[in-house]
Amino acid sequence: MKLNNRTFILLTTLVSMLFGYSTMFAAEGEATLDKVMKFMLVVTIVMIAFVLWLIIVYSEKEDSEGKTFKAPLIALRKYLTYSTPIEKEQEILLSHNYDGIRELDNRIPPWFKMLFYGTIIWAAIYMLAYHVLDDGQVQSKEYKVEIEKAKLERDFLIRTGAFINEETVVFVNDPAELSEGKEIYFKNCATCHGQNGGGLVGPNLTDDYWIHGGGIKNIFKVIKYGVPAKGMISWETQLDPKKMQAAASYILTMHGTNPPNGKAAEGEKWIEPDDNKISSTKGS
Ligand code: HEC
Repeated sequence: MKLNNRTFILLTTLVSMLFGYSTMFAAEGEATLDKVMKFMLVVTIVMIAFVLWLIIVYSEKEDSEGKTFKAPLIALRKYLTYSTPIEKEQEILLSHNYDGIRELDNRIPPWFKMLFYGTIIWAAIYMLAYHVLDDGQVQSKEYKVEIEKAKLERDFLIRTGAFINEETVVFVNDPAELSEGKEIYFKNCATCHGQNGGGLVGPNLTDDYWIHGGGIKNIFKVIKYGVPAKGMISWETQLDPKKMQAAASYILTMHGTNPPNGKAAEGEKWIEPDDNKISSTKGS
């Protein structure tokens, strides 16, 4: 076999394809990119070494039969699969004889032994990396890291109020939150419900009567979904849950203030259920 043009073109195409793939992977995440790049580098070096070897063997030594080229491969295969040649079998024949069946004391093939020793060496490296240097993550550590990450995510979600909905909303008796609620109310709601909640276009929010039910949950629900048919818009897209909770809480603080020029009561008288704490502190 000669290294003709075709083989050469094939090899160079292969190498350039590998380079192409490595740039394709570049679009993926950082960590994967790092690994892929390292892998590609190794593959590329091996390929280049192989091509150089081919060039040296074929062109320098004028090895038209490809003997020099194949020699190392053949030697390697011989080495890996070494076994006693059939002519020498007598030497390894064991003395026992079971009903005519006799046994050879064959050497374990080197490739198999390599695998075996390889696992021992690998175990040592693994133990060093994972248990001594603590470089890798054993399962328990991996678990802890995951939990830590999830906790951070959860804390973030709690802070931003992602878990607040009409079922979980509570009255927040916190001055900072209430003043935020007040700010939201003045900015978005006062035009229809009055500066002091006495009602204008929208109903009075300070009395005992509610069209859609009183209490933090009902108020939150109306703010969130609105009553579009009656001119109360849904605020879900403009205020995040935490802000809607703050506004709803602020509305509850106006209860019973009886502002001047308050609109007449609308809806039903709301009696806070016993299990709701807000009623006992805010009820009249
Ligand atoms: C464009 C005018 C308008 C704006 C702005 C507005 N509302 Fe309303 N709101 C209304 C109307 C009208 C109703 C009565 C709906 C009905 O009759 O069902 C209402 C009803 C309500 C109710 C229920 C009252 C009840 O008796 O059940 C709450 C609570 C409420 N609004 C809170 C707010 C909050 C908080 C904001 C600001 C984030 C706001 N509204 C902004 C017009 C408005």
